[in-house]
Amino acid sequence: MRAEDNQKLTETGPGTPGGDWMRLYWQPVALSEELETERPVVPVRVLGEDLVLFRNDDGTTGLIDRRCAHRGADLSLGRLEDGGLRCYFHGWLFDGGGSCLDTPAEPEDSRLRSKVRIRSYPVRECNGIVWAYLGDGTPPNLPSLDCFIAPEEYTFAFKGYLDCNWLQALEVGIDPAHASYLHRFEEDEDTGDSYGKQFRGASLGTDLPMTKILREYGRPEILNARTEYGQRIVALRKLDKEGLDGSSTHVRITHQVFPHGITIPLSGAMAITQWHVPIDDVSCYWYAMFTSLDEPVDKSTMRAQRIEGITLPGYKPVRNRANSYQFDYQEQRTQTYTGLGRDINVHDQMAVEGQGYIYDRSRETLSRSDRAIVTYRRMALQAIDTVADGGSPETLLMDTADVESRGPIPLDGIGPTGEWEQYWAGSIADLRKASPWASGLQEALVTGPAGVPGAEVEPDRSQSADAYDRAAG
Ligand code: FES
Ligand SMILES: [Fe+2]
Repeated sequence: MRAEDNQKLTETGPGTPGGDWMRLYWQPVALSEELETERPVVPVRVLGEDLVLFRNDDGTTGLIDRRCAHRGADLSLGRLEDGGLRCYFHGWLFDGGGSCLDTPAEPEDSRLRSKVRIRSYPVRECNGIVWAYLGDGTPPNLPSLDCFIAPEEYTFAFKGYLDCNWLQALEVGIDPAHASYLHRFEEDEDTGDSYGKQFRGASLGTDLPMTKILREYGRPEILNARTEYGQRIVALRKLDKEGLDGSSTHVRITHQVFPHGITIPLSGAMAITQWHVPIDDVSCYWYAMFTSLDEPVDKSTMRAQRIEGITLPGYKPVRNRANSYQFDYQEQRTQTYTGLGRDINVHDQMAVEGQGYIYDRSRETLSRSDRAIVTYRRMALQAIDTVADGGSPETLLMDTADVESRGPIPLDGIGPTGEWEQYWAGSIADLRKASPWASGLQEALVTGPAGVPGAEVEPDRSQSADAYDRAAG
């Protein structure tokens, strides 16, 4: 990849082409739980901008510039009172819409406050996450994805910090081959104890542990296709070892959702939609939305499992660069591929942080297992250029109520070899039919499983010297 293309994809600060593109989408800026404190004021850094999020007594939420409009004091340490955030320096008061309500050090008859504004952005809260729109003009609706549509009790949200550029974090999520290596466990656990854990249960409709499938079948066939929301990525592992005759195939279907999201299966009926939002060019947060089709999510178990490995308030991993991820050589020899314990988020973290703060993609050697990554970069570069030319990217979902749901629905299961599309469509239809909240949303079947209209499987461009040349189509 050319250095200038890498720069275009990785830089998202104000005024950059990538930043203008990202700002067309709602961005996750905090978990709702971060505002559930005695003093709901949270400093937020997103897309290279320093902001402060706060909630008033009446429940309204505002997101404004972190620097006071007067002489720049830090409003994240301001006084939350009188319907806004009051600066501790000279007492200026700002509401969530950016208006200045009070300048108490000025003469009684001063009209200064009517002329003062502070930068502010619209916010919305949905399923445990506060979203902000940092673009110009009227914000679009949140797209009709299952993670936004599902009733709150069927969802759970969490986040984590990554000490590197956002694109590295996204790319590990659209790389189906790495799970056979990076996430390898030498021994299988009781799959009945897998609630809330990735790759530790049994695949849908079987008692074959995922750990065994990933370990023994390390060369998945990967098919990827463009969709209106991004990409559908299919990884097939034909089961033909240890007495299995190859008549069954493990099918794992995941999705890339623009601009920086993925949707992957956690278990038979639970999906994870995970967004990788830039804090700035050298760090990012992942925000995961767990969405259950069949029963309400056990939020306290899910939270307890995840809070263990991080420190608050920054949601920064306990295992990190500074302590070499608490790498254990004996464990690497005998139990796991990484020697980093059993939390797969830590494995991914080490992989992507290990690429450096902003990975120099002019030095990589792409392989066939990277085909979805190549397609993503092509699509993103095209979108950035389209936005720079004043257009709208094809993957910007401007949904209204008449779109029931776009899913997209991931799946992990075992079906008859050669018939993954039928297997996939049938399994999804059954899962959805049985769901208390999604059974009526048949529209998702059209964009979720097989038969995405017009979605041809992408050619493999991983060996092509001009994979990112826009003239090459
Ligand atoms: S710097 Fe904030 S009121 Fe003066
Ligand atoms: Fe991973």
